[in-house]
Amino acid sequence: MTNALVTGGAGFIGSHTVDRLLRRGYRVRVLDALTPPVHLEGRIPEHLSPAVEFMRGDVRDRAALRAALEGIDVVLHLAAYQDYLTDFSRFFDVNATATALLYELIVNERLPVQKVVVASSQSVYGEGKYRCAADGVVYPPLRPEAQLRARQWEVRCPVCDGPLQVEITDEAQVRPHNQYAMSKYTQEMIALNLGQRYGIPTVAMRYSITQGPRQSFRNAYSGICRIFVTRMLAGQAPIAYEDGGQLRDYVYVGDVARANVLVLEDPRADYQAFNVGGGAATSVLEYGALTAQVLGVDLAVAVPGEYRFGDTRHIVSDISKLAGLGWTPSTPLPQIIAEYAAWARQQPGLDDPYAQAEQVMKQLGTVRTAGL
Ligand SMILES: NC(=O)c1ccc[n+]([C@@H]2O[C@H](COP(=O)([O-])OP(=O)(O)OC[C@H]3O[C@@H](n4cnc5c(N)ncnc54)[C@H](O)[C@@H]3O)[C@@H](O)[C@H]2O)c1
Repeated sequence: MTNALVTGGAGFIGSHTVDRLLRRGYRVRVLDALTPPVHLEGRIPEHLSPAVEFMRGDVRDRAALRAALEGIDVVLHLAAYQDYLTDFSRFFDVNATATALLYELIVNERLPVQKVVVASSQSVYGEGKYRCAADGVVYPPLRPEAQLRARQWEVRCPVCDGPLQVEITDEAQVRPHNQYAMSKYTQEMIALNLGQRYGIPTVAMRYSITQGPRQSFRNAYSGICRIFVTRMLAGQAPIAYEDGGQLRDYVYVGDVARANVLVLEDPRADYQAFNVGGGAATSVLEYGALTAQVLGVDLAVAVPGEYRFGDTRHIVSDISKLAGLGWTPSTPLPQIIAEYAAWARQQPGLDDPYAQAEQVMKQLGTVRTAGL
């Protein structure tokens, strides 16, 4: 029997990955710090299978990580610090340094780990890939704040300042431009390069916005599904930033778990990064309409002209590389929203946590209002 360690295995993607591993006959150990606000009072969540061996500990803690690696054949490294708050050093501490520690322990203690899968993110692409009629394929930088203040939401060509057409973004070029994305790309470089150098097959998975049951609604700084569903269930109109025209590809958590286990078992994936996306572009306004329809409520998305400085305008992943290994997403957006809503309705304390998160972001200056 193969022994798998899942760091962050009590979380959203982690617990679904655990379930998939168990179904495929792995023996599973979880190392998770049960970090608030995702986890209430350090309690092991009910959704975590009792079939796992659970260790409470921090991936930054050498002794805890060493203990968790004892007797392990494969590692799925999903523990991370997320969101977009300004404690920059913590992103690198949790996401990058702890990944270096993982390889340090495997190499220095000659641990017989045969494969590592690390959780990266679509955010490494920044504004992603566009096409300019005059200049061809371009990778534009962050939109300047003056442009956002003037309510000009679309990305402009960095060469000629002309209009651009959004393309799906493949794995070839990265341009991380916030603390989370930079820490995730640093993590990838550590994992893929040390893996290659020391012969530890490693794969980095760049998930698009992942959705489905168990996604904590207490951690409501991002994630349109949890925000729109919880807000609409509370009878409130959700708010779209900019003009609500932002395109994203949303991927079902069960499909992400399936992708994690697929690359774990397929040596063709070794030493590479893969997009794991939903395969279809949806705007924020379309998402809102779909959510209202699925929930059966008569609420439209409000567009007050606010924006989050540093947000990406459009990003849609090209999933053809992972499709080449036989993976395609299976679950359409209405079903994802319906499953999430059914789960959210059963959760205690569903009292519009988004309002609180929004308040914090305004105080920190993350959310700003455009000029009229
Ligand atoms: N959810 C998404 O849309 C998405 C998109 C792209 C990438 N990712 C990545 O996928 C992974 C899983 O994300 P998720 O959405 O399941 O998040 P989550 O918050 O539900 O799960 C993360 C888990 O990691 C644990 N954790 C956090 N810091 C830890 C530490 N220092 N030591 C040990 N455990 C720690 C938390 O307690 C939690 O159980 C993360 O690496 C994240 O960056 C998620």
